Amino acid sequence: MCHVWQHPTLPAEEVPIDFLAKLPAGFRRLVLTGGEPTLRADLEDIVDLVRPKTRYLEISTNGLLAAPLERIAARHPEVEISISIDGIGARNDTLRGEQDGYERKLATMQRLVAAGGRNIGLTTAIQDGNCDQLLDLYRLACRFGGEMAGCALHNGFLFHKADNEPANRVRTARAVQPLVYELLLSRHPRNWIRAYQHLGMMRKILGQPRRLPCPAGRDFLFVDPWGRVYACNIRPDLEIGDLASQTWKEIMAGSRAAEARTRVARCTHNCWLAGHARASLRGRRFPSLVRLQPLGWILANKLRAALGRPIDFDHAVDFRDVAHTPVAARRESGPGRDFHPVPQPKTEQPYGAFNNVMNK
Ligand SMILES: C[S@@+](CC[C@H](N)C(=O)[O-])C[C@H]1O[C@@H](n2cnc3c(N)ncnc32)[C@H](O)[C@@H]1O
Repeated sequence: MCHVWQHPTLPAEEVPIDFLAKLPAGFRRLVLTGGEPTLRADLEDIVDLVRPKTRYLEISTNGLLAAPLERIAARHPEVEISISIDGIGARNDTLRGEQDGYERKLATMQRLVAAGGRNIGLTTAIQDGNCDQLLDLYRLACRFGGEMAGCALHNGFLFHKADNEPANRVRTARAVQPLVYELLLSRHPRNWIRAYQHLGMMRKILGQPRRLPCPAGRDFLFVDPWGRVYACNIRPDLEIGDLASQTWKEIMAGSRAAEARTRVARCTHNCWLAGHARASLRGRRFPSLVRLQPLGWILANKLRAALGRPIDFDHAVDFRDVAHTPVAARRESGPGRDFHPVPQPKTEQPYGAFNNVMNK
């Protein structure tokens, strides 16, 4: 589902930590993702640097390299460490092309909890190949006391992908319903909010347009491995500046940022990754509060679930409005494949091929 591993960056060109020092304080959430963040030899220094700049810090990782994560969990127990798990047992390993990945990830999660980590969860890219295991994955996250962050498959430059398409959109979207119900039964309000976010994800899987305006470039931004700043991590044409040559203030107040926001307002991509969804649900003036409409749905359906009543999903999501799915070639996966990485220098404009790719 993601080909970023086939396009590694050259470590000497990766954004140096003193460029990241230009990030201001006062973020609500920062996510260190990738590629694979544990491949940065200075990941622990980066965490020390950015932790005071943000209320929540998350590391999104494949979880295969436990040692640096373990030291981070011991030093910053509140940091959310989200391990990518896309299925139970062999299903994960096949979908992700990982040798013994599932077992190694579980061992990492145990080590992180033992080291003191209080926020150890998992991320699942929901798709045809794992939609029958969503409750098992959610319960696995609960076993570790953490969250399961589900997201629909996307295309975009971060993933070096333009051909991710669900084969059976309705089946995959319907499979999210029991997960939404169980999230609402949880004691944690964060899971109720996630339940509502999953309605947007079901629409994304069905191929429908976004209901809420996209907050890219205003309420979230993406910094690429070289330090370039983008309004989002899907469209490479929304680059707004570069930490190598500009201050944060210059980037945010620059004409490219203003132009990108205008383009976002007209964007027809219907992205719904976790960061997009999170930002969409909160008002700009009071970002710690959930908007009224989602709040109403959450409270009403939390009550229904608590009373054991069914949720009317067809009222919230139109399952008859289903985008056409082109016949996509079967995705390559599985351990044992030859790996011939082609390093990407910063000068190559590596994302060019993804300009104008429609993200259905
Ligand atoms: C960008 S990855 C970075 C973490 C890590 N290197 C990994 O192997 O998953 C973060 C999350 O995005 C998910 N992901 C990968 N490709 C995706 C795609 N095309 N659409 C949506 N999510 C995707 C991954 O499965 C993972 O849960």
